[in-house]
Amino acid sequence: MHSAPGKLILFGEHAVVYGQPAIAMPFNAVHVTAKATHTPPGTGLSVLARDLDLALHVIPGDDTPDNALTYAALLVLRTLHIANPPDLSIEIRSTIPFGSGFGSGAAVSAALMRELSSVLGHPLEGDTLNDLVYEVEKIHHGTPSGIDNTVIVRNTPIYFVREKPIQNIKNAVPLTFVVADTGIPAPTKETVGRVRELVMGDPKIYRPYIDQIGQIVDEARTHMEKGYLLGIGHLMNLNHNVLRSLEVSSPILDKLTNVANEAGALGAKLSGGGRGGNIIALVDAADAKKVRAALNDSGAMRTWIATLERTEA
Ligand code: MEV
Repeated sequence: MHSAPGKLILFGEHAVVYGQPAIAMPFNAVHVTAKATHTPPGTGLSVLARDLDLALHVIPGDDTPDNALTYAALLVLRTLHIANPPDLSIEIRSTIPFGSGFGSGAAVSAALMRELSSVLGHPLEGDTLNDLVYEVEKIHHGTPSGIDNTVIVRNTPIYFVREKPIQNIKNAVPLTFVVADTGIPAPTKETVGRVRELVMGDPKIYRPYIDQIGQIVDEARTHMEKGYLLGIGHLMNLNHNVLRSLEVSSPILDKLTNVANEAGALGAKLSGGGRGGNIIALVDAADAKKVRAALNDSGAMRTWIATLERTEA
Protein backbone atom coordinates (compact mmCIF):
# COMPACT_ATOMS: atom_id res chain seq x y z
CA MET A 1 0.00 0.00 0.00
CA HIS A 2 1.21 3.52 -0.77
CA SER A 3 -0.13 6.92 0.18
CA ALA A 4 0.12 10.66 -0.41
CA PRO A 5 -0.95 13.56 1.84
CA GLY A 6 -3.09 16.61 1.14
CA LYS A 7 -1.59 20.09 0.97
CA LEU A 8 -2.21 23.60 2.27
CA ILE A 9 -1.16 26.73 0.40
CA LEU A 10 -0.03 29.21 3.03
CA PHE A 11 0.55 32.10 0.62
CA GLY A 12 0.47 32.82 -3.09
CA GLU A 13 -2.24 30.70 -4.76
CA HIS A 14 -3.37 31.87 -8.20
CA ALA A 15 -0.48 34.35 -8.55
CA VAL A 16 1.81 31.29 -8.65
CA VAL A 17 0.22 30.34 -11.99
CA TYR A 18 1.71 33.62 -13.38
CA GLY A 19 5.25 33.02 -12.13
CA GLN A 20 4.98 34.58 -8.68
CA PRO A 21 6.27 32.65 -5.65
CA ALA A 22 4.05 30.68 -3.26
CA ILE A 23 4.53 28.84 0.03
CA ALA A 24 2.88 25.48 0.71
CA MET A 25 3.06 22.68 3.26
CA PRO A 26 1.86 19.07 3.32
CA PHE A 27 -1.42 18.49 5.16
CA ASN A 28 -1.08 15.04 6.69
CA ALA A 29 -4.42 15.04 8.52
CA VAL A 30 -5.97 13.89 5.25
CA HIS A 31 -4.51 11.48 2.72
CA VAL A 32 -5.04 9.06 -0.15
CA THR A 33 -4.04 5.39 -0.13
CA ALA A 34 -3.67 3.04 -3.09
CA LYS A 35 -3.55 -0.73 -2.68
CA ALA A 36 -3.02 -3.24 -5.50
CA THR A 37 -4.46 -6.75 -5.54
CA HIS A 38 -3.44 -9.39 -8.09
CA THR A 39 -6.33 -10.53 -10.29
CA PRO A 40 -6.71 -13.66 -12.53
CA PRO A 41 -4.61 -13.83 -15.73
CA GLY A 42 -6.10 -11.89 -18.63
CA THR A 43 -8.18 -9.52 -16.49
CA GLY A 44 -5.87 -6.57 -17.14
CA LEU A 45 -5.43 -3.45 -15.06
CA SER A 46 -8.28 -1.64 -13.35
CA VAL A 47 -8.56 1.21 -10.88
CA LEU A 48 -11.33 1.29 -8.28
CA ALA A 49 -12.31 4.48 -6.49
CA ARG A 50 -15.19 3.46 -4.23
CA ASP A 51 -15.53 6.97 -2.76
CA LEU A 52 -16.32 8.22 -6.27
CA ASP A 53 -18.20 5.06 -7.26
CA LEU A 54 -15.77 4.47 -10.13
CA ALA A 55 -14.35 1.26 -11.58
CA LEU A 56 -12.13 1.94 -14.59
CA HIS A 57 -10.33 -0.38 -16.95
CA VAL A 58 -6.95 0.81 -18.22
CA ILE A 59 -6.79 0.37 -21.99
CA PRO A 60 -3.23 0.04 -23.29
CA GLY A 61 -2.30 2.49 -26.03
CA ASP A 62 -5.13 4.87 -25.15
CA ASP A 63 -3.11 8.05 -25.58
CA THR A 64 -5.84 10.53 -24.83
CA PRO A 65 -7.66 9.24 -21.76
CA ASP A 66 -9.90 11.89 -20.32
CA ASN A 67 -9.89 10.31 -16.89
CA ALA A 68 -7.11 11.27 -14.49
CA LEU A 69 -6.97 7.83 -12.86
CA THR A 70 -6.49 5.82 -16.04
CA TYR A 71 -4.12 8.45 -17.41
CA ALA A 72 -1.98 8.19 -14.26
CA ALA A 73 -1.78 4.41 -14.63
CA LEU A 74 -0.95 4.64 -18.36
CA LEU A 75 1.82 7.15 -17.70
CA VAL A 76 3.47 4.73 -15.28
CA LEU A 77 3.29 1.90 -17.83
CA ARG A 78 4.71 4.15 -20.53
CA THR A 79 7.54 5.40 -18.32
CA LEU A 80 8.49 1.84 -17.35
CA HIS A 81 8.17 0.67 -21.01
CA ILE A 82 5.53 -1.91 -20.14
CA ALA A 83 3.37 -2.71 -23.19
CA ASN A 84 1.01 -5.23 -21.59
CA PRO A 85 -0.78 -4.00 -18.47
CA PRO A 86 -0.40 -6.31 -15.46
CA ASP A 87 -3.41 -8.22 -14.06
CA LEU A 88 -4.10 -5.96 -11.10
CA SER A 89 -6.86 -4.10 -9.42
CA ILE A 90 -5.78 -0.93 -7.62
CA GLU A 91 -8.12 0.41 -4.99
CA ILE A 92 -7.99 4.10 -4.15
CA ARG A 93 -9.30 5.39 -0.83
CA SER A 94 -9.25 9.03 0.13
CA THR A 95 -9.98 11.10 3.23
CA ILE A 96 -9.28 14.30 1.24
CA PRO A 97 -12.51 16.14 0.46
CA PHE A 98 -12.79 16.45 -3.32
CA GLY A 99 -12.45 19.95 -4.86
CA SER A 100 -11.72 21.51 -1.47
CA GLY A 101 -8.30 23.06 -2.10
CA PHE A 102 -6.39 20.24 -0.37
CA GLY A 103 -4.82 18.88 -3.56
CA SER A 104 -6.93 15.74 -3.81
CA GLY A 105 -6.20 15.30 -7.54
CA ALA A 106 -2.42 15.35 -7.12
CA ALA A 107 -2.58 13.12 -4.04
CA VAL A 108 -4.66 10.48 -5.86
CA SER A 109 -2.20 10.43 -8.79
CA ALA A 110 0.84 10.27 -6.49
CA ALA A 111 -0.52 7.39 -4.38
CA LEU A 112 -1.69 5.43 -7.44
CA MET A 113 1.60 5.89 -9.31
CA ARG A 114 3.63 4.91 -6.24
CA GLU A 115 1.65 1.72 -5.75
CA LEU A 116 1.58 0.65 -9.40
CA SER A 117 5.28 1.32 -10.01
CA SER A 118 6.24 -0.50 -6.79
CA VAL A 119 4.18 -3.57 -7.64
CA LEU A 120 5.89 -3.55 -11.04
CA GLY A 121 9.27 -3.59 -9.28
CA HIS A 122 10.40 -0.08 -10.29
CA PRO A 123 9.20 2.34 -7.59
CA LEU A 124 8.90 5.86 -8.96
CA GLU A 125 9.72 8.71 -6.57
CA GLY A 126 11.26 12.18 -6.51
CA ASP A 127 11.45 14.32 -9.64
CA THR A 128 10.31 11.51 -11.96
CA LEU A 129 7.14 10.95 -9.96
CA ASN A 130 6.60 14.69 -9.60
CA ASP A 131 6.83 15.21 -13.38
CA LEU A 132 4.32 12.42 -14.01
CA VAL A 133 1.83 13.73 -11.45
CA TYR A 134 2.18 17.16 -13.06
CA GLU A 135 1.21 15.65 -16.43
CA VAL A 136 -2.02 14.37 -14.88
CA GLU A 137 -2.66 17.71 -13.17
CA LYS A 138 -3.04 19.21 -16.63
CA ILE A 139 -6.27 17.20 -16.99
CA HIS A 140 -7.68 18.90 -13.87
CA HIS A 141 -6.91 22.35 -15.20
CA GLY A 142 -4.98 23.38 -18.26
CA THR A 143 -2.31 25.57 -16.69
CA PRO A 144 -1.31 24.13 -13.31
CA SER A 145 1.62 25.89 -11.70
CA GLY A 146 2.93 22.56 -10.38
CA ILE A 147 2.80 23.58 -6.72
CA ASP A 148 0.25 20.93 -5.69
CA ASN A 149 2.12 17.95 -7.13
CA THR A 150 5.47 19.27 -5.86
CA VAL A 151 4.48 19.76 -2.21
CA ILE A 152 2.51 16.50 -2.17
CA VAL A 153 5.25 14.37 -3.75
CA ARG A 154 8.04 15.93 -1.62
CA ASN A 155 5.94 15.94 1.56
CA THR A 156 7.90 18.92 2.92
CA PRO A 157 7.11 22.66 3.14
CA ILE A 158 8.29 24.52 0.03
CA TYR A 159 8.88 27.96 -1.43
CA PHE A 160 7.81 27.43 -5.02
CA VAL A 161 8.30 29.43 -8.20
CA ARG A 162 7.09 27.89 -11.43
CA GLU A 163 9.90 26.29 -13.49
CA LYS A 164 12.57 27.29 -10.93
CA PRO A 165 14.46 25.01 -8.52
CA ILE A 166 12.37 24.25 -5.42
CA GLN A 167 13.55 25.91 -2.23
CA ASN A 168 13.05 24.69 1.32
CA ILE A 169 11.51 27.06 3.83
CA LYS A 170 13.21 28.13 7.03
CA ASN A 171 10.55 28.38 9.71
CA ALA A 172 11.90 29.74 13.00
CA VAL A 173 8.97 28.85 15.30
CA PRO A 174 6.26 26.18 15.04
CA LEU A 175 3.14 27.60 13.35
CA THR A 176 -0.31 26.40 14.40
CA PHE A 177 -3.10 26.62 11.85
CA VAL A 178 -6.81 25.95 12.20
CA VAL A 179 -8.09 24.61 8.89
CA ALA A 180 -11.79 24.77 8.03
CA ASP A 181 -13.45 23.13 5.04
CA THR A 182 -16.58 24.90 3.81
CA GLY A 183 -17.84 21.61 2.35
CA ILE A 184 -18.46 23.44 -0.92
CA PRO A 185 -16.48 21.87 -3.76
CA ALA A 186 -15.06 24.32 -6.30
CA PRO A 187 -13.11 22.96 -9.28
CA THR A 188 -9.73 24.67 -9.60
CA LYS A 189 -10.27 24.74 -13.35
CA GLU A 190 -13.09 27.28 -12.90
CA THR A 191 -11.35 29.56 -10.41
CA VAL A 192 -8.09 29.55 -12.39
CA GLY A 193 -10.14 30.25 -15.54
CA ARG A 194 -11.91 33.18 -13.87
CA VAL A 195 -8.64 34.75 -12.76
CA ARG A 196 -7.25 34.30 -16.27
CA GLU A 197 -10.27 36.10 -17.74
CA LEU A 198 -9.71 39.02 -15.39
CA VAL A 199 -5.93 39.23 -15.83
CA MET A 200 -6.02 38.88 -19.62
CA GLY A 201 -9.21 40.93 -20.02
CA ASP A 202 -8.15 43.91 -17.95
CA PRO A 203 -4.41 43.63 -17.20
CA LYS A 204 -4.10 47.24 -16.02
CA ILE A 205 -6.42 46.55 -13.11
CA TYR A 206 -5.76 42.91 -12.34
CA ARG A 207 -2.06 42.32 -13.11
CA PRO A 208 -0.94 44.48 -10.14
CA TYR A 209 -2.89 42.19 -7.80
CA ILE A 210 -0.84 39.24 -9.05
CA ASP A 211 2.41 41.16 -8.42
CA GLN A 212 1.16 42.29 -5.01
CA ILE A 213 0.58 38.67 -3.97
CA GLY A 214 4.16 37.88 -4.99
CA GLN A 215 5.40 40.64 -2.66
CA ILE A 216 3.24 39.34 0.18
CA VAL A 217 4.74 35.86 -0.26
CA ASP A 218 8.30 37.14 -0.07
CA GLU A 219 7.54 39.21 3.03
CA ALA A 220 5.85 36.20 4.59
CA ARG A 221 8.95 34.13 3.94
CA THR A 222 11.09 36.70 5.78
CA HIS A 223 8.67 36.73 8.72
CA MET A 224 8.70 32.92 8.85
CA GLU A 225 12.50 32.97 8.94
CA LYS A 226 12.36 35.39 11.88
CA GLY A 227 9.45 33.71 13.66
CA TYR A 228 7.38 36.91 13.57
CA LEU A 229 3.90 35.49 14.09
CA LEU A 230 2.01 38.80 14.04
CA GLY A 231 3.60 39.70 10.71
CA ILE A 232 2.68 36.33 9.18
CA GLY A 233 -0.93 36.67 10.36
CA HIS A 234 -1.21 40.22 9.03
CA LEU A 235 0.07 39.09 5.63
CA MET A 236 -2.49 36.26 5.55
CA ASN A 237 -5.26 38.84 5.93
CA LEU A 238 -3.71 40.96 3.17
CA ASN A 239 -3.34 37.94 0.89
CA HIS A 240 -7.00 37.07 1.46
CA ASN A 241 -8.08 40.59 0.54
CA VAL A 242 -6.12 40.52 -2.71
CA LEU A 243 -7.69 37.15 -3.54
CA ARG A 244 -11.08 38.79 -2.95
CA SER A 245 -10.14 41.43 -5.51
CA LEU A 246 -9.36 38.57 -7.91
CA GLU A 247 -12.91 37.33 -7.28
CA VAL A 248 -11.98 33.91 -5.95
CA SER A 249 -13.36 34.39 -2.46
CA SER A 250 -17.03 33.83 -1.56
CA PRO A 251 -19.42 34.89 1.21
CA ILE A 252 -18.72 31.76 3.28
CA LEU A 253 -14.94 32.09 2.86
CA ASP A 254 -15.13 35.77 3.93
CA LYS A 255 -17.37 34.85 6.82
CA LEU A 256 -15.11 32.07 8.11
CA THR A 257 -11.95 34.20 7.86
CA ASN A 258 -13.73 36.96 9.82
CA VAL A 259 -15.01 34.49 12.41
CA ALA A 260 -11.49 33.11 12.89
CA ASN A 261 -10.03 36.59 13.34
CA GLU A 262 -12.77 37.65 15.75
CA ALA A 263 -12.17 34.48 17.78
CA GLY A 264 -8.51 35.44 18.23
CA ALA A 265 -6.65 34.19 15.15
CA LEU A 266 -3.57 36.17 14.12
CA GLY A 267 -4.73 36.14 10.50
CA ALA A 268 -6.78 34.05 8.10
CA LYS A 269 -7.18 33.47 4.38
CA LEU A 270 -8.73 31.15 1.85
CA SER A 271 -6.31 28.44 0.77
CA GLY A 272 -6.19 26.77 -2.66
CA GLY A 273 -8.42 27.64 -5.58
CA GLY A 274 -11.11 29.42 -3.53
CA ARG A 275 -14.81 30.11 -4.31
CA GLY A 276 -15.42 27.13 -1.96
CA GLY A 277 -12.86 24.81 -0.47
CA ASN A 278 -11.08 25.77 2.71
CA ILE A 279 -9.68 28.55 4.85
CA ILE A 280 -6.62 28.49 7.10
CA ALA A 281 -6.16 30.63 10.21
CA LEU A 282 -2.87 31.19 12.02
CA VAL A 283 -3.31 30.99 15.79
CA ASP A 284 -1.34 31.00 19.02
CA ALA A 285 -1.36 27.31 19.96
CA ALA A 286 -3.26 28.18 23.17
CA ASP A 287 -6.12 29.69 21.11
CA ALA A 288 -6.46 26.84 18.59
CA LYS A 289 -9.41 25.11 20.28
CA LYS A 290 -11.32 28.37 20.74
CA VAL A 291 -10.89 29.39 17.08
CA ARG A 292 -11.76 25.88 15.92
CA ALA A 293 -14.97 25.90 18.00
CA ALA A 294 -15.98 29.29 16.58
CA LEU A 295 -15.50 27.97 13.02
CA ASN A 296 -17.48 24.82 13.81
CA ASP A 297 -20.31 26.99 15.17
CA SER A 298 -20.30 29.23 12.09
CA GLY A 299 -20.93 26.75 9.31
CA ALA A 300 -17.58 25.03 8.71
CA MET A 301 -18.19 21.49 7.53
CA ARG A 302 -15.00 20.07 9.08
CA THR A 303 -12.09 21.57 10.95
CA TRP A 304 -8.57 20.46 11.83
CA ILE A 305 -5.55 21.79 13.69
CA ALA A 306 -2.31 21.55 11.69
CA THR A 307 1.21 22.45 12.78
CA LEU A 308 4.14 23.51 10.65
CA GLU A 309 7.17 22.49 12.71
CA ARG A 310 10.30 24.53 13.05
CA THR A 311 12.53 23.85 10.04
CA GLU A 312 16.00 24.94 8.95
CA ALA A 313 16.21 25.98 5.30
C1 MEV B 1 -4.43 25.28 -6.46
O1 MEV B 1 -4.12 24.46 -5.34
C2 MEV B 1 -3.47 26.41 -6.55
C3 MEV B 1 -3.71 27.37 -7.69
O2 MEV B 1 -2.72 28.39 -7.58
C4 MEV B 1 -3.60 26.69 -9.04
C5 MEV B 1 -2.19 26.27 -9.40
O3 MEV B 1 -1.22 26.71 -8.78
O4 MEV B 1 -2.06 25.46 -10.34
C6 MEV B 1 -5.08 28.03 -7.60
